[in-house]
Amino acid sequence: MGFWQRLEQPAVVAVCGASRGIGLALTTQLLARSEVAEVWAIARHASSCSELQTLARAHGERLRVHDADVCDETALAQLASRLREATSQLNLLLCTVGVLQTGAAKAEKGLAQLSLQGLQATFASNSFAPILLLKHLLPLLRGRHPCTVAALSARVGSIGDNRLGGWYSYRASKAALNQLLRTASIELTRLNPNSCVLSLHPGTTDTDLSKPFQANVPTEKLFAPAFAAQCLLEQIDRHGPKHTGSFYGWDGNPIIW
Ligand SMILES: NC(=O)c1ccc[n+]([C@@H]2O[C@H](COP(=O)([O-])OP(=O)(O)OC[C@H]3O[C@@H](n4cnc5c(N)ncnc54)[C@H](OP(=O)(O)O)[C@@H]3O)[C@@H](O)[C@H]2O)c1
Repeated sequence: MGFWQRLEQPAVVAVCGASRGIGLALTTQLLARSEVAEVWAIARHASSCSELQTLARAHGERLRVHDADVCDETALAQLASRLREATSQLNLLLCTVGVLQTGAAKAEKGLAQLSLQGLQATFASNSFAPILLLKHLLPLLRGRHPCTVAALSARVGSIGDNRLGGWYSYRASKAALNQLLRTASIELTRLNPNSCVLSLHPGTTDTDLSKPFQANVPTEKLFAPAFAAQCLLEQIDRHGPKHTGSFYGWDGNPIIW
């Protein structure tokens, strides 16, 4: 049975990284589904995002917008307490937060470009933020309700598939994310037998994150955010508790760790 069919009541969903790119497309498509009661759209600048404001006008109270820097545990605790006042359970938690080349985070071509600051900035957003989000929202995930947690990883985080090298911080931060999610999937199964934790690769998608690196990507291999979101929602529907702790691509093919 698919995710939407397993629900006993309309879903409460949180999308972290909802103000741009794939997260915004996921938020838009989730709001269009009748099985979704409400979507919490979280980002550092979610309340000033004009696309989210437009969605709020169309969907009223079904869209709840929250500003939080998910690298900040105080902000995560505040988010958790606001969510717990509003709901006793979350059915879908999506984390699309990630950086490749922003601020101190660098897409290094070689060892000479590595720095502690760059490594730390990349790991903070790509590895630590998603797992700390899960930690703070755990009270809403435990129980017996159907609940899927999916974070966007990347195929380049696969150690077995790494033949090109480069992008040290990004690759390693996504490999660390995968291990953190796999570990959480084991704990979460004990706390909620109907849970499923997934690492998902969205495919190369036309967003702010990939803009500086699109030159050599053939047009047919560069997805629109709406297409990537549609594929990811299909994988979330198809995969349940027996698949927890796995890493899949946008097309449903498993990716080696
Ligand atoms: N695009 C691709 O080709 C591609 C390929 C493989 C994997 N991925 C992965 O897919 C995910 C989504 O990528 P994207 O291309 O959609 O990225 P994007 O367009 O840069 O969007 C990132 C989102 O995360 C939010 N965000 C960033 N840092 C945050 C923080 N500290 N706290 C709260 N929100 C934060 C941003 O909003 P604010 O700035 O408002 O906070 C924004 O909504 C990333 O994890 C990326 O690594 C992308």
